[in-house]
Amino acid sequence: MASLSGQVALVTGASTGIGRHLVEGLAARGMAVAGVARTEDRLRTAMAEVAEATGARTLAVAADVTGRASVEAAVAEVVAELGQVDLLVNNAGLIDEFEVPVWEADADQWWEVVSSHIRGAQLTIRALVPWMVLRNRGRVVNIASGMSTRANPDYSAYSVAKTGLLRLTESLATALEGSDVRAFDVAPGVVDTPMTRSMHMWQGFTDWTPPERVVELVAAIAAGELDQWSGRFLRAGADDLEDLRAVPPEGAARQLRLRPHGDTDPLG
Ligand SMILES: NC(=O)c1ccc[n+]([C@@H]2O[C@H](COP(=O)([O-])OP(=O)(O)OC[C@H]3O[C@@H](n4cnc5c(N)ncnc54)[C@H](OP(=O)(O)O)[C@@H]3O)[C@@H](O)[C@H]2O)c1
Repeated sequence: MASLSGQVALVTGASTGIGRHLVEGLAARGMAVAGVARTEDRLRTAMAEVAEATGARTLAVAADVTGRASVEAAVAEVVAELGQVDLLVNNAGLIDEFEVPVWEADADQWWEVVSSHIRGAQLTIRALVPWMVLRNRGRVVNIASGMSTRANPDYSAYSVAKTGLLRLTESLATALEGSDVRAFDVAPGVVDTPMTRSMHMWQGFTDWTPPERVVELVAAIAAGELDQWSGRFLRAGADDLEDLRAVPPEGAARQLRLRPHGDTDPLG
């Protein structure tokens, strides 16, 4: 296990599911880890359990990632307590509650889903990346999805959000070119969590992606081993770490593009 000792991570959506696994895996590799989520009790319990299990320093900061003031206050607390953040993982987010076509979706819940992923990521990036740029050091991971590249009619808000997040990552990575600050999309596969348990499409599913695959990928990013993939989409459980380390991506590989209809497509 590569040591990330001395580094500081901030993981949103840290109280359960993938975020909780990431907190534990990064702490086990020596990082000091701050976790953000809205429900304070559950978050505090999770972060205390990880500190106990790993001996690492953890910090629970209850905050809603869609609130500008709450994100700015949370980041200030993390920096004051743990120091400058080396790794930001934008993992917090919601899924469409009603599993209906877009025209039937509740407008407020629909927008809440989009906001949890997009506004949440933009606000944490806005609060943290300027410091990363000043230090010329940092990694941002946005947690993506299979629905980043394929729409699902029952989860239109989530599909929109996760696709937008891909574009946000690419915009960020492009703006950071020439610096030692990078940004990545990591799709976690299908991990057994409260979110997937709530989704009709995964009922009866058993071939879950081990959360360790997500942790390994994010840890390799934090260690600077996958920098050539900045601005691109990686998938835990499908991508082999050795291959990723060895392969330099070319052109728009693993980026969001229109596929031409053939050689005569003027948009090709
Ligand atoms: N599980 C999978 O197989 C899978 C597949 C593809 C992508 N993903 C993505 O992976 C991420 C984690 O998924 P999961 O399955 O672990 O979800 P989950 O079990 O529902 O956990 C979501 C976490 O985000 C927090 N959260 C939600 N809204 C928030 C907000 N506005 N502000 C702060 N925290 C918030 C939740 O805590 P509070 O409710 O207390 O705030 C919780 O800690 C999500 O981005 C999801 O879209 C998951």
